[in-house]
Amino acid sequence: MIELVRTGGLVGLTGAGLSTESGIPDYRGPDGERRITPMSASELLGSTQARQRYWARSYVGWRRFARARPNVGHEVVARLQRRGLLGTVITQNVDGLHQEAGATDVIELHGSLDQVVCMTCGEHYRRTTVDEWFTLANPGFDRDVDGEIRPDGDVVISDELAATFRLVHCVICGSDKLKPDVVMFGESVPKPLVERCFREVEASRGLLVLGSSLMVMSGYRFVRRAARLSLPVAVVTRGRTRGEAETTIKVDAPLGATLQALEAALDQ
Ligand SMILES: NC(=O)c1ccc[n+]([C@@H]2O[C@H](COP(=O)([O-])OP(=O)(O)OC[C@H]3O[C@@H](n4cnc5c(N)ncnc54)[C@H](O)[C@@H]3O)[C@@H](O)[C@H]2O)c1
Ligand SMILES: [Zn+2]
Repeated sequence: MIELVRTGGLVGLTGAGLSTESGIPDYRGPDGERRITPMSASELLGSTQARQRYWARSYVGWRRFARARPNVGHEVVARLQRRGLLGTVITQNVDGLHQEAGATDVIELHGSLDQVVCMTCGEHYRRTTVDEWFTLANPGFDRDVDGEIRPDGDVVISDELAATFRLVHCVICGSDKLKPDVVMFGESVPKPLVERCFREVEASRGLLVLGSSLMVMSGYRFVRRAARLSLPVAVVTRGRTRGEAETTIKVDAPLGATLQALEAALDQ
């Protein structure tokens, strides 16, 4: 692993496991089983009740999600980029923590939770703006709510409470069909973005996978492409992944400590 990284020219593929040490839970964990079923885009757009439920939970979760800070794993990734050892980082994460840690060449495969899109007219908004609208429409809503943050950045609240949540509207077209600008369950990654990632992998000297079960095809396909081109695939992730057959080097250990040790070893 050290020799591979030292040679440089790798493309990164990162997943939820890189952010668990920042307090954002992953979907699957070491056994590869999904712990929650996220809401799909069609469900969200299907009814006012579904939107109230989604946005009420997400509103409560946002403050905690937005408070998450990059961990040492994100920091090492950014430093490897600065040293020229790691090129593009393709991330499945929607938390913006790579960029916050100073990474520059980041492709957000699944978008980012800090953007909101109107599904009626296509207008984009910053999440912080929409969050202010929600606060004005729902003063004190999250005052008495506590609970753990979940992988999608939401917090479970009762359906009764969610039903009292007041939705806000797109200022351009008046629609309340607002959606976080992320690839939701049942949606697919835009083709041009996938093509761009394929080109990055094809031009690389190998793939470094950090914290992904690879159960989602949107990331796994890059592992398959690398393997087909006989490029090395190095994986740091706890537990089994769907890409075991394509993996050349596997480190089954916590990411923060492993990446720190890797960086220290590079300097020796
Ligand atoms: N932070 C986020 O933005 C976030 C969080 C949860 C889910 N998601 C979304 O859910 C999907 C999840 O797929 P995925 O493959 O990225 O994640 P995943 O949840 O399927 O897999 C995470 C993997 O990381 C491992 N892991 C967790 N913490 C670790 C640690 N500290 N050190 C080493 N390994 C660790 C787990 O054992 C697991 O194998 C993605 O599509 C993503 O968009 C994003
Ligand atoms: Zn609109």
